[in-house]
Amino acid sequence: MTTPTPAHGHGWVSWAPGRVNLIGEHIDYHGLPVLPMALQRGVRITFRPRPDGEVLLTNAGSEFPTRRFHLDPGMEPWSIGDWGNYLKAGALTVLRQHGVRRGIEGEVAADLPPAAGLSSSSALVVAVANALLHANGVEADSLELADALARGEHFVGTAGGGMDQAASLSGVAGHAIRIGFDPLAVEAVPLPRDWIVLIAHSGIRAEKSGGAQAAYNHRRAASSQALEELSKAVLGEVAPTSELLARVASSRLLGLCGELPRPGGAWAAHALSEAVRVDEAVAALRASDLERFGRLLNDSHTSLRDVYEVSHPRLDSLVEAALESGAAGARLTGAGFGGCMLAVCHRQQRQEVERALRDAQEAMDPSPSLPPFAAEPGHGARVIPAS
Ligand code: GLA
Repeated sequence: MTTPTPAHGHGWVSWAPGRVNLIGEHIDYHGLPVLPMALQRGVRITFRPRPDGEVLLTNAGSEFPTRRFHLDPGMEPWSIGDWGNYLKAGALTVLRQHGVRRGIEGEVAADLPPAAGLSSSSALVVAVANALLHANGVEADSLELADALARGEHFVGTAGGGMDQAASLSGVAGHAIRIGFDPLAVEAVPLPRDWIVLIAHSGIRAEKSGGAQAAYNHRRAASSQALEELSKAVLGEVAPTSELLARVASSRLLGLCGELPRPGGAWAAHALSEAVRVDEAVAALRASDLERFGRLLNDSHTSLRDVYEVSHPRLDSLVEAALESGAAGARLTGAGFGGCMLAVCHRQQRQEVERALRDAQEAMDPSPSLPPFAAEPGHGARVIPAS
């Protein structure tokens, strides 16, 4: 939908949050539901529309050089891991979907650590897309945009799923969001007020568009192939995995995964068991059953560590420290290979768990760049006038 008056003005802020995924890891790309929440931290682009088709953005982070490019449907990525590729991914998506012509100039700043499993990259893609849409007076449906941006982000070379963009665009303050795919749908589920979500960084960068890219893409490809084989064996056709789970008992499917070649069969088993845990976790959340929710988080971590093999010893240590200090559950969050973990506990337990996480973090890294913090669920991306 195009609004008649393009946005002029003295400057705008396009803000997009990161997300923490509570449960449902490495299954969005199989079209299976996930349960993240938007953070109150994210990416902020302070921008002005330009009269021409140039995008010119500086970055407040000194490790990220200024990036400039023209809105051209044939644009090519810079080298792997270049932050500007996320700008191009967002721009290319809205260029193709909405034919935007006017560029923007401004500055990017983030209060989310990069490569930490908190989706700073998708927040950047969402923020630049929203800024360009705003500069061109275009209003887009947020789910359609999320869907397009999820595919558009493949431009950076990582075959990610659709969780991060949908969480950033559709976050609801005070709520976790259950995201279903095929078709993309978002349902807000209140996070009980006496639960607290703590996040701690392992100190290891998880470069999903760099060093971890091949491992991520390999898992997606091998588990997808195994799930297709499973579907053919059981239903006689390749059906979406959500349909397979609806039609056949998960216990039978998990048994059959053991007969498929490794590692794909084992990785498919992770996906199926994780999908079952997401359903149970949504029910536990609705029932404010912290103990049950916590157990599901722990099972998820075990599966990601032992079966999907995406954990890191530092993440495992943080998870252990959280559980020993009284957290109901803890797990790595995001793609893994480093980055962050989360712990969920009763508000009364917060200090003990936070202290244990800080001690464990400092034992591994005497001057951590990001101390553990409590995450409150925030609202989704928006563009507001710069103050
Ligand atoms: C990354 C991807 C997501 C998802 C997670 C793992 O964050 O961008 O699409 O696959 O990893 O759950």
